Amino acid sequence: MTTIADLYKARFGLDKDIGQDMKAEGTVAGILNRRSHRRYTDEPVSNDLLDVLLACAQSAPAKSDLQQYSIIVVEDPKAREVIGGWEGAAPVFLMFCADSRRQRKLAKIRGHDFENDNVDTFMNVCVDAALAMQSFILAAESAGLGCCPISQVRNRIEAWCEVLGLPEGVFPISGLCVGWPSTPGFISMRLPPSTVVHRDRYDDSNLEADVDAYDKRRHAIYAIPPEKQRLTERYGALDFCGWSENTTRQLSEPERAGFKAFLNKHGFSLK
Ligand SMILES: Cc1cc2nc3c(=O)[nH]c(=O)nc-3n(C[C@H](O)[C@H](O)[C@H](O)COP(=O)(O)O)c2cc1C
Repeated sequence: MTTIADLYKARFGLDKDIGQDMKAEGTVAGILNRRSHRRYTDEPVSNDLLDVLLACAQSAPAKSDLQQYSIIVVEDPKAREVIGGWEGAAPVFLMFCADSRRQRKLAKIRGHDFENDNVDTFMNVCVDAALAMQSFILAAESAGLGCCPISQVRNRIEAWCEVLGLPEGVFPISGLCVGWPSTPGFISMRLPPSTVVHRDRYDDSNLEADVDAYDKRRHAIYAIPPEKQRLTERYGALDFCGWSENTTRQLSEPERAGFKAFLNKHGFSLK
């Protein structure tokens, strides 16, 4: 019998006495075994299934029940061209947007002031949109579909706002590719819970040793090939390029440094 302990081992590369008596089935097994999919068959996703999955997205919890997000189903081939590549060719492409416009508009309609153009609202709209996307993903994966979030859309955020007609107060947090997987994909090993889950007090005193061991476990399963190593022109290609080497390389250069300026122009003063 495959148990939850087997899935735990695959997820973390750690042999722990956790979930040994639980059969690997149902929602928990589906979540532990999940992976992003970037290759799809040509088989379409029916409108009925898509509508069900969008209803699952809308079933996510939302801060104060404000429901501050919008989802654009991107079907127009011209819009698909904006993303290009394999992402643009996905059978379904959704744009999950943070949306504070709806409440601002409703405030006008109901004759109330809107006194929440601040960083807290920015955070709330992003969290709402992200939770909706994750609800969609889990529902889609349980139906056998594969998904991949695409934050790269924010590299061309102004072009997307233009092509999707996103007004002030509405901006993409992530695209989402969806389709029937054409390959099994693979489980991306996660950081050990000892680095992520804290009991009562935050404690990262063992971070370096924990991450060194994680880098080695990950490398043994799938070494990061030179073409996937970040910024090799600056740091060189390595035989052993661990997760922490690659992620810190990535963050050694600013990503999307103009985002705040974009938000300021697009209806968020971020006070
Ligand atoms: C907000 C968000 C944005 C992402 N953006 C991209 C992206 O632009 N391109 C891509 O190939 N994968 C993207 N991903 C997928 C991650 O690379 C992936 O989730 C991570 O490597 C872990 O792999 P797994 O989902 O298979 O467990 C994104 C994931 C999230 C949550």
